[in-house]
Amino acid sequence: MSRKITARIPASTTNLGPGFDVLGLALKLYSTITLEITENDTEVVVTGVDADKIPSSTENVAFQAVKHIYTRSGTPLPNGLKISISNGIPAIRGLGGSGTAILGGMLTANASCGNPFTNKEILDFASAIEGHPDNVAASLYGGLVISMQENEHIHTIKLHCDPSLHIVLAIPDFTLSTKKARDILPKSVDFKDAIYNISRSSLLIASIATGNLDNLSIAMTDRLHQPYRSSLIPGFDDVVNAAISAGAKSIALSGAGPTIAAYCLENSENVGIQMHNAFKNHNINSEIKVLTSDLDGAVVTTNHD
Ligand code: HSE
Repeated sequence: MSRKITARIPASTTNLGPGFDVLGLALKLYSTITLEITENDTEVVVTGVDADKIPSSTENVAFQAVKHIYTRSGTPLPNGLKISISNGIPAIRGLGGSGTAILGGMLTANASCGNPFTNKEILDFASAIEGHPDNVAASLYGGLVISMQENEHIHTIKLHCDPSLHIVLAIPDFTLSTKKARDILPKSVDFKDAIYNISRSSLLIASIATGNLDNLSIAMTDRLHQPYRSSLIPGFDDVVNAAISAGAKSIALSGAGPTIAAYCLENSENVGIQMHNAFKNHNINSEIKVLTSDLDGAVVTTNHD
């Protein structure tokens, strides 16, 4: 009897404007990663959205994540591993796709080894590979997750986001690597800009925790990363203005970009149309998705054939 372990992992939109590397919101958009031990050679199979942009080899971060868990738990890596990724998350677009692959590999491998590690430990490992905790924390736990790193450990609090909040994603048809979007950031920031972001990030979290969503219109601006990254996204200012004019409460670059996320309590369909048209004016095609927050986080299931 063979065993297939599958993890369904939600996408994330991170930073939410001022909460750079700290805030992450899980979205109802998923990839699934399945791990099987077979009699054959190791293989990585990728299907679904942007499959051509994701390595189908042991270079895939999901395989590296599986190996990490086997090694750390002292379990010999089986010769025949099959990792199947059914991808539903546009790749290299600021929606946490790499984090979902890392988590999928780690969670399925952990189950395969008899669950030697807790989710908290998995988050520590996944954040170390990803380089920051915000996207993997949201994808692991669901909801809106605040993350803090202390040495090699990640501390989190999960909040439930109001289901009436719709996140309109304008996903342009070009990719932007996180490395490129981090390399453009300054090495140090002005004290005033740090205070600007701390105040807004704190107000944003308190507003979501207490249901004061009107504050989103003032609490999601940023001075630490978006002013630098916007130069990498043609039409950024026009897309932002189009979303706000059409009734969005606020906008933020999704993760490292290039996707732009608008936060809406109403008019979400028209906000999407206007964002699409604004990108089009800069000769950029974009896909629009209107989503709400996933509250479940990663879900692991085991099936026996
Ligand atoms: N917080 C990260 C960044 C998310 O903005 O670079 C991207 O993975």
